[in-house]
Amino acid sequence: MNLRKIGSLSISPIGMGCMGFSHGYGEVPEENYSIEAIRKAYEFGCNFFDTAESYGQEMFHIGHNEELVGKAVKPFRENVVLATKFHLNGEEIASDLSLYQIIRQHLDASLNRLGTDHIDLYYLHRINEEIMIEDIADVMGQLIEEGLIKEWGLSQVSAETLARAHEVTPIAAVQNIYSMVERGSEEDIFPYCLENGISVIPFSPIASGFLSGKVTTQTKFEGDDVRKFVPQLSKENIVANQPILDILEQFSKEKQATKAQISLAWMMHKYPNVIPIPGSKNQGRILENLGAWEVKLTNDEFRSIESALDKVTVHGHRGHVESEQASFGSQWRDTK
Ligand SMILES: NC(=O)c1ccc[n+]([C@@H]2O[C@H](COP(=O)([O-])OP(=O)(O)OC[C@H]3O[C@@H](n4cnc5c(N)ncnc54)[C@H](OP(=O)(O)O)[C@@H]3O)[C@@H](O)[C@H]2O)c1
Repeated sequence: MNLRKIGSLSISPIGMGCMGFSHGYGEVPEENYSIEAIRKAYEFGCNFFDTAESYGQEMFHIGHNEELVGKAVKPFRENVVLATKFHLNGEEIASDLSLYQIIRQHLDASLNRLGTDHIDLYYLHRINEEIMIEDIADVMGQLIEEGLIKEWGLSQVSAETLARAHEVTPIAAVQNIYSMVERGSEEDIFPYCLENGISVIPFSPIASGFLSGKVTTQTKFEGDDVRKFVPQLSKENIVANQPILDILEQFSKEKQATKAQISLAWMMHKYPNVIPIPGSKNQGRILENLGAWEVKLTNDEFRSIESALDKVTVHGHRGHVESEQASFGSQWRDTK
């Protein structure tokens, strides 16, 4: 596998989304199983692990997932790239603390939970419309100078906001939703990022499991499972989006690879600056997804997939521009 770059960091071409061990996909495995899963991914060659302070907040406590990831990577912390994210809420913005002090509190708590003295890639999880993005970028620049973070990024952001922030302190990575069924970032984010040396880290790259072909109209989503609200996973859209799975089925047979792997290989062929972070609670599926870095498409194969996709209508969209105030998932939080 060829390493890819996020700013100054060298990254395996696929990272590991660790969220599901604490948040968002219903029941979680035993802690030992999750730790072993992360370590197996590392042994397989993955050096990039994605978490966030909020993962675990509803089912356990703030930082549950960071604690788990910290424990798992402890024996090899210096060999891996840790990405985490923070939210800014209205109450703290209204407090007497400076923006630097507020962000520093989030950062110190994450450092503590991850058991490390620096974060490799620190993201603002959602844009908060109450704060100028330039002010956040300025604080991130200070934290980089202090050596507390190596690189910074934004998540679910528009190209316009990205450009404003990048002017102040260069951004290394954008983490937006992106997959064969969520291609909005192709219009604005990818062109801007390619031009400005910014990496794109797609979350939900397998469309929350849809592109594996294993989610059916009979699949039940329980507890905090966000798939209750994923637009492509309503019963009618699972049926309506079948033509996309048919394309994957054809190439899966031709390339002797799984559908999930083909969907990841497609985006890695398409963009040199893309580093997907598929998530799974299952050790076998984690390695399957990482194994997509061995699935190489020829230019002809890529063009053939691309033109087939261009002809298909996708049913259901979440989109990649999302503020703190209108965050995805608020539906299920509201129903609790
Ligand atoms: N920045 C943000 O706002 C944001 C939002 C969401 C997620 N994220 C990050 O992105 C990561 C990935 O996103 P995601 O977990 O939402 O979406 P995803 O990777 O597209 O899909 C995860 C779902 O797909 C299933 N799955 C994964 N690989 C599979 C395979 N090979 N075969 C069959 N099913 C498979 C998983 O089930 P099993 O667990 O049963 O395998 C899980 O239900 C997260 O872990 C998190 O770190 C960031």
